[in-house]
Amino acid sequence: MYEIVEKREEVPNIHRLIIREPNVAKKAKPGQFVILMPDEKGERVPMSIVETKKDTFTIFMLELGITTGKIANMHPGEKLYAVAGPLGQPAEIEYYGNVLLGGGCYGIGAIYPLAKALKAKGNRIVTIIEARSKYLIYLEEKLRIVSDEFYIATSDGSRGTNGHVQTVLDRLIKNGHRFDHAKFIGCTYMMMNCSNITAPYRIPTRVALNTIMLDGSGMCGCCRVSVGGKTKFACVDGPEFDGHQVDWAELMKRKAAYQEAEMISYQTSPHICRALIENYFGESDE
Ligand code: FES
Repeated sequence: MYEIVEKREEVPNIHRLIIREPNVAKKAKPGQFVILMPDEKGERVPMSIVETKKDTFTIFMLELGITTGKIANMHPGEKLYAVAGPLGQPAEIEYYGNVLLGGGCYGIGAIYPLAKALKAKGNRIVTIIEARSKYLIYLEEKLRIVSDEFYIATSDGSRGTNGHVQTVLDRLIKNGHRFDHAKFIGCTYMMMNCSNITAPYRIPTRVALNTIMLDGSGMCGCCRVSVGGKTKFACVDGPEFDGHQVDWAELMKRKAAYQEAEMISYQTSPHICRALIENYFGESDE
């Protein structure tokens, strides 16, 4: 139980882990997540479930803080202290017609099970992924296979469109593409900007708010979000919500609350590579 069966750094700071946990493997549905604890005293971290097999499941983990740093330093054969899941509500998967999927960072992995499930329902899939640079793109082949159209955006212009998911989305819509449904998973700014683009066209838009979660079980209250004027818990009521109803300003404020404390803890951790600090705290394209 909880054994790390495989671990590979897919691209710098994004690790693909296959973990043995038959209950998660059996029950997980697209859009759900697990909570992992590397050791007894470690915090709990939420991870989107990307694939399942007989008794294992796969995640793509962004190495971003102390706990993900600890997991990144574990090896195949070692066991996590705890795995809880599958948690959260499954994503809405229906036949819509022309479906747009946008993913960045950990969201590139997280949109893959949605793409597969939506394709299986007969939808036409248009996928856009974003990364800071071409060397940070992963899962491209699998996403291409399941997509009818596939686009890449990079912040430095090293591959595909110079920009973000929203840059490509804006261009596609202005060029006459019509979408019946959209889902975005990745950084908060990307999801907010994409929701703002789809709103005037009345494209039903779903966003996944995994990154605001902490304990993932509805008890800590950290993942409170206002959606349509009502308070929701991302871990229990979500993670998928209507992107046109999310109070993005409040969400941004909440997300920034622990950034300074996290940076200090990060800088003093023996688990963390110095380059990560510069990568994630030293600069931002948001
Ligand atoms: S993550 Fe703690 S209540 Fe949702």
